[in-house]
Amino acid sequence: MTLQEKIDAIVAAAADGVGACGELSQISDLKVKFLGKSGELTALLRGMKELPAEERPAAGKLVNEARDKINALIDEKFASLQARKEQERLKSESLDVTLKGRAVARGSLHPCTLVKEEILSIFTSLGFSVAHGPEVETDYYNFRQLNIPKDHPARDMQDTFYLGNDILLRTHTSPVQAHVMEENKPPIRVVCPGKVYRPDDDATHSPMFQQIEGLVIDENITLCDLKGILECFAKELFDKNTKVRFRPSYFPFTEPSVEVDLSCSVCHGKGCRICKGTGWIEVLGAGVVNPRVLEMSNIDPEKYSGFAFGMGIERIAMIKYGIPDMRILFENDVRFLRRFK
Ligand code: PHE
Repeated sequence: MTLQEKIDAIVAAAADGVGACGELSQISDLKVKFLGKSGELTALLRGMKELPAEERPAAGKLVNEARDKINALIDEKFASLQARKEQERLKSESLDVTLKGRAVARGSLHPCTLVKEEILSIFTSLGFSVAHGPEVETDYYNFRQLNIPKDHPARDMQDTFYLGNDILLRTHTSPVQAHVMEENKPPIRVVCPGKVYRPDDDATHSPMFQQIEGLVIDENITLCDLKGILECFAKELFDKNTKVRFRPSYFPFTEPSVEVDLSCSVCHGKGCRICKGTGWIEVLGAGVVNPRVLEMSNIDPEKYSGFAFGMGIERIAMIKYGIPDMRILFENDVRFLRRFK
């Protein structure tokens, strides 16, 4: 066999090997087999020194050409396998940009928040401003300053969470009245929303609930002003046919005191499940500010008078949305909350 024939056979074998190779991981094996130290081509090169000197350059050239050829074949194979691998990767990772996205559920305001904001906006449109006070109160602001001395039986009206001797969770928003009167001179016109706490827990009571307090102090304020404002408020919150009814009541910080009923917004006074057949729904406590309370806040009761009211936000939300059990307002079941979007 001539040298040329030997070389052709090696190149042909390499071409077959490269042709049969289907994996990138086999490429280095090919290199070792055809170009490595114990490969046939290297053996040929080694045998070169037995050739006569004048034949060596031509033979060396043949072997080198063969090596370049095999190298090129392997490189080409490597490139094509790599390209195939890249294609497979792109295919498996491909994004379908035409696929529909997943909708993100949008939150909504809690019904109590909706009602609170509506109530506040009615009062601010009537010229009231909004004030806040602390939820952790002193006995002084929650009771004594509101004309409820220690051991007064009126304290039984509001069961209390005590945090210490004189520190408690406020049982109503009325202490904000005292803060506002201490910090402002009449005329005063404020509404004070906030959380309040009492140890009650059933279908119509929760240990934490929200109230909105109202306070107006000016010259010549009477019970009639209270009724006018509340009538205006009720017609805005429910509908223009809503009627307001006062029943005598008792609160130590107002004199006279009233319970305020609104005609039932569901049956319009005929009597239904919501108003328990009476046609009226009790929504708030109110009255003319007790002069003793004014005095304690350094407001001259000879010159000024005022009215105050307090209402429960959950209770109004229940009436407005026909919710029978208060607990559902605190469970945060999204199926319920979604209805208020
Ligand atoms: N603070 C009273 C309550 O929680 C309500 C009220 C407020 C009554 C203002 C009269 C005046 O029961």
